Amino acid sequence: MLIHATHTEHPEELLAGPAISAGLNRVEKRLNRLSTSSRLPLINRAAGRITGAGGKRLRPALTLASALALGGRIDRRTVTAAACVELIHAGSLVHDDLMDNAAERRGVRTVNAELGNGGALVVGDFMVARAWLAALSSTSRAVAETLATTLVELAEGQFQETAALFDAGRTPADALESVRRKTASLFRTSCVVAHRDGRAMAEYGERFGMLFQILDDLLDLASTAGRLGKPVGNDLRQGVYSFPLLTALGRDCGDLRPFLGRRLTEDEITAVLTRLRESSMAEETVGYCRALAAEAVAALPDVTDPEAAAVLRGLPPAYVDRAEALLVR
Ligand code: IPE
Ligand code: IPE
Ligand code: MG
Ligand code: MG
Repeated sequence: MLIHATHTEHPEELLAGPAISAGLNRVEKRLNRLSTSSRLPLINRAAGRITGAGGKRLRPALTLASALALGGRIDRRTVTAAACVELIHAGSLVHDDLMDNAAERRGVRTVNAELGNGGALVVGDFMVARAWLAALSSTSRAVAETLATTLVELAEGQFQETAALFDAGRTPADALESVRRKTASLFRTSCVVAHRDGRAMAEYGERFGMLFQILDDLLDLASTAGRLGKPVGNDLRQGVYSFPLLTALGRDCGDLRPFLGRRLTEDEITAVLTRLRESSMAEETVGYCRALAAEAVAALPDVTDPEAAAVLRGLPPAYVDRAEALLVR
């Protein structure tokens, strides 16, 4: 049975059960059709390259598992809702990479690297708008409304982060507020749009999304490029003062304040990362995320479907385990 295997390296192995993996195959087809539905071949190529380059498909998997958990089926509407959630996520990554000036995403060149910032702006717009249109025509008004509300929150969360770049006065609470909007809102919505009683899954989705982003932020400060497969220290380099960093500042890592509020040299970034790694930042952040994982699981309604139960209960702690395995100490 898939439930008790260890998923330390790849929590996504929890998604291999028959109903969810069959559902994800259907989502894949729908996602591909939606991403390549423009009249303009160049837009299709750019959007299709990002959605086709993989990704964990965590958010659509949450939609499918939530549908089963609430006693529903994985039908055409569920598949469309799941594909819309993933297309919104992918479109927001196109915009995020433009904002972060990133060159690579999912192992391929970003749209901004390929087509410039203007190209990435409008390709991201296309993806998000196309998802919303599909939701409007093929799910329900309630689902479309939930997705639109989430887009507003996502934009607000990204704005809060961008407005606070190099802001030495940013607090841990400010960082959490941005994480809630930019990441947790789409996790929550991925669960909620699964079923007409989806609200019962909202708290689970929100807490999972919080811990997912906080762990991503932690690994940027406390892992290595070799382990992560992407450069570390990016947030410091760009002036994003994340929750783990801001929490550590008030603790036992010497005075890091002189390193805030300005651009850092590569040597300074290395010095800050070294000090953070010698501090209790990782341990405390992992503890915080473990508590969020436990709260997420505790917030689940009664789930009788065994496949959905294994996925929903297993994923949050599995992501904490995975992050712990990727830390350098
Ligand atoms: C990346 O999300 C953005 C964050 C919220 C950290 P994922 O890590 O789910 O990205 P993909 O979909 O697997 O590429
Ligand atoms: C995730 O933020 C982007 C969104 C939630 C829209 P990050 O900037 O932290 O994600 P990565 O590290 O680029 O994947
Ligand atoms: Mg980014
Ligand atoms: Mg970003």
